[in-house]
Amino acid sequence: MQEKIASLNEQFTQDLNQVQTTKDLEDLKVKYLGKKGPVQALMLDLKNAAPEERPSLGKKINELKVSFFDHIETRFAVLINKEESNRLSDEMIDITLPGRRRNRGSTHIITQIFDQVFTILKGMGFSVQYGPDIDSDYYNFESLNFPPDHPARDMQDTFYISEEMLLRTHTSNMQMRVMETETPPIRVISPGKCFRNETITSRHHVFFHQLEAFYIDKDVSFSELLATLDEFLQKLFHQDIKTRYRPSYFPFVEPGLEVDVSCVACNGSGCSLCKHTGWLEVAGAGMIHPNVLQNGNIDPEVYSGYAWGFGIERLAQIKYGIKDVRLFSENDLRFLNQFPST
Ligand code: DAH
Repeated sequence: MQEKIASLNEQFTQDLNQVQTTKDLEDLKVKYLGKKGPVQALMLDLKNAAPEERPSLGKKINELKVSFFDHIETRFAVLINKEESNRLSDEMIDITLPGRRRNRGSTHIITQIFDQVFTILKGMGFSVQYGPDIDSDYYNFESLNFPPDHPARDMQDTFYISEEMLLRTHTSNMQMRVMETETPPIRVISPGKCFRNETITSRHHVFFHQLEAFYIDKDVSFSELLATLDEFLQKLFHQDIKTRYRPSYFPFVEPGLEVDVSCVACNGSGCSLCKHTGWLEVAGAGMIHPNVLQNGNIDPEVYSGYAWGFGIERLAQIKYGIKDVRLFSENDLRFLNQFPST
């Protein structure tokens, strides 16, 4: 029996050395100290020993049992510590790692330009009225003094939907609708999409945005038109920008003008943006033609007015040096992300 005790002790020591985890240790405990384990078996075996040896053998078995318990407990303390620190390092959060950015949406650059323009022009007394993208030949052309078959219609290649209906070629289509329903003083801006049957290139698109502005009242003068445009363009670009007005032809205004600003890239000294002219064309403008006022039931003997219109893409191109108009409608995030809304 002495031998059995010694060899059990030896085996236990070997097994204990193999133990890696608290789970292994649990198993070891059950194996040696469980009810069906070898220690218990020794206890039961005591009755077969010589009666005079029983007390000392019993003591030895008990000591063995206590020593197993002690070993297991000591090892348990070590393992549980190790496992806990492993778990903590596995789960550790590295607070020095950069966070994951959320993609922030923003308004489209065209919307941003519209908003800037609205802010300036509302401050100058204009109010916004939206017109229809699909309109009749009458509002888009005829009422604006483009007679049928007039060559001026060729200035704007048009998508016709039917004989009478078309995709508007400019936001000037709102002039007549407003004149028909309102009486002067009228101070309106009308933003929106326009469509022309163009070949799509870096300079032209079938779809773009314009803003029309017009003011009708008694004694609206040509110098008021120039002064208002000057102020608007200086507010939109910067204070020192210069303006230049060239005579031009649009059927619905007389006189008609083409509006240039000094190049924002080179300040007028000449660069690739302004094709070395020092000037950038930004708008068409003029005094509203008496025929147009008449079509809108406004007496041209009593009232006068001015109108101007410009392309929003063109303003954005100038403001941010964008060379290709196709970028505005392609929705490429690499482009759009360069213009986060403020
Ligand atoms: N509607 C013209 C165009 O799209 C631009 C324009 C020119 C508007 C002169 C005006 C104006 O109001 O007076 O080409």
